[in-house]
Amino acid sequence: MAGRIPQSFIDELVSRADIVEVIDSHVPLKKAGREYKACCPFHDEKTPSFTVSTEKQFYHCFGCGAHGTVIGFLMNYRQLEFVEAVESLAQRLGLEVPREGGEAAAPAGPPTEPLYEVLERASRFFQRQLRVHPEKSRAVDYLKSRGLSGEIAAEFMLGFAPPGWDNLIEALGGTAEELKLLARAGLVIQRSDPSYDRFRDRVMFPIVDRRGRTIGFGGRVLADDTPKYLNSPEGPVFHKGRELYGAHQAMRSAGNLERIHVVEGYMDAVALAQAGIRNVVATLGTAATPDHVERLFRLAPDVVYCFDGDDAGRRAAWRALEITLPRLRDGRQAFFMFLPEGEDPDTLVRSSGRKAFEEMSQSAVSLGTFLFDRLSARVDLNTIDGRSRLIEMARPLLGKIPEGAFRKLAQKKLADMTGMDPDDSAILIKGPQAPRPKRQSAATVRAALSSQTPVRRAIKMLIQHPELASDVSDASALKDIDLPGAPLLLELVELLRENPDFGTAEVLERYRDNEAGVHLGKLAAEELSPLGDGIRIEFDDAIRAVARRAEETRLEARRDALQALIKAGEASEEQKQSYREIIARLGRPSESA
Ligand code: UTP
Ligand code: MN
Repeated sequence: MAGRIPQSFIDELVSRADIVEVIDSHVPLKKAGREYKACCPFHDEKTPSFTVSTEKQFYHCFGCGAHGTVIGFLMNYRQLEFVEAVESLAQRLGLEVPREGGEAAAPAGPPTEPLYEVLERASRFFQRQLRVHPEKSRAVDYLKSRGLSGEIAAEFMLGFAPPGWDNLIEALGGTAEELKLLARAGLVIQRSDPSYDRFRDRVMFPIVDRRGRTIGFGGRVLADDTPKYLNSPEGPVFHKGRELYGAHQAMRSAGNLERIHVVEGYMDAVALAQAGIRNVVATLGTAATPDHVERLFRLAPDVVYCFDGDDAGRRAAWRALEITLPRLRDGRQAFFMFLPEGEDPDTLVRSSGRKAFEEMSQSAVSLGTFLFDRLSARVDLNTIDGRSRLIEMARPLLGKIPEGAFRKLAQKKLADMTGMDPDDSAILIKGPQAPRPKRQSAATVRAALSSQTPVRRAIKMLIQHPELASDVSDASALKDIDLPGAPLLLELVELLRENPDFGTAEVLERYRDNEAGVHLGKLAAEELSPLGDGIRIEFDDAIRAVARRAEETRLEARRDALQALIKAGEASEEQKQSYREIIARLGRPSESA
């Protein structure tokens, strides 16, 4: 018998998986504001009310009330048992499911939370150096010389790794254990003794994932040294081929994007943002990967690839085209924007301005045009041989496109170009089927939870914005409270303080087999504004109200005890006085008085 799956592995799995990606592969999602939408796969509907939140890593249908985490989705949608869902998700992420006590147990690898934490601390360290280091002006001047304002530098969290071999080690690597963590995070090199900082005398570009967690860095030299950019090495939390630099900022500042531009360099993304063009992300110095393309289309329905206008740029564009084709479901479009030779988006927008860039974007070549232009340039369409060569080259490419309007149009275009009948078997292409969501009977609409107690409000805010746990200054004030839900509130605060990187989904998974889990799931699905000062104040109010209620409960108990003494004629003057004080504080006598 296989042993239990350790909770730490479930935490890890939920934290590594992206619910949007997983659900999208079963039920194609469309971006809508900060969330993703689709027609609900769990009941029949015509307008989409099924929403998936990146931030909460949670899905919820406003129509039928279905909701849950990524694991819950796999269980409900694919009718899997919990363990099967975990295994399926693990396989997707290339992880082996460890078993407690099992001999064949494969280690899950060290946990990633400390890595996120140390990367975050390093990022804050670099940002601070840009403000306080004696040599900061070199970095500040460099950023200014590249046209960046303080606001943009702050938004992209740019920093400065000062010159010297051990600035970061001095700041964050006090113990052998901390030093090891820095090395695991790719920030320190331990090949030789003593260890030394990887990033020295560079402007730092933190790379954050979609959840806003720092996962790595790019560091640029201030002068003409090499390598120009040094990047974090690949590791447990940093995968170059998956991340898009600037996606977090683009999503935050631009909300619902119509189109997204893909550039090559960190500086390009930041410079375009500086110019007011916010719908931009950069690949991390690598060619776009299939993962990138999926992510791009989840950011916006129209993807515009920006490439150099030279031969290398065209070759790179063709590679991007090939990996984009299989992902061109209906509603998605791709374009190619070729920059004048010698220019990159940064230099272009700085010399010609925002408008020029936007005009180029508007007149970018569509993927279809690029495909046929390039293929037909290689054959002579005036000859039969040339035309059949074109069909030969185009067929495998068109075959990659999912069935739908775009493939039909491409097929028709090929027929036109070659003078064939579009239904001719030489042209007709059988390709991959678009995934079809399966329909299930409507689930019952969840009953509205009615009571609006401070405990419930606090739990709701906490489950949706787990970061709030760190706002609770005195968790002990929440102890021993005789209010419904109060022990759960305290438990949540403690859980989140121990696991500061937990999001909604990780917490919900902790409560999967627990009665409270059902309740928490419902609270997670309720409407709530994004994390901001408003919520922080509301949360603080709710916690204070709970603590006040606790204090009242204690006073009431004391009052009742004193009252009994008074009635029995056994109270001292002091006790009578304290009784009067309590009554005054409670603002009312005991109900039984
Ligand atoms: P570029 O050299 O085009 O970068 O490389 P850039 O952003 O335009 O640089 P500057 O600051 O304006 O001169 C594009 C991307 O390739 C990766 C980086 O991700 C860079 O942003 N790269 C480049 C490296 O990783 N290492 C290098 O040495 C150079
Ligand atoms: Mn550049």
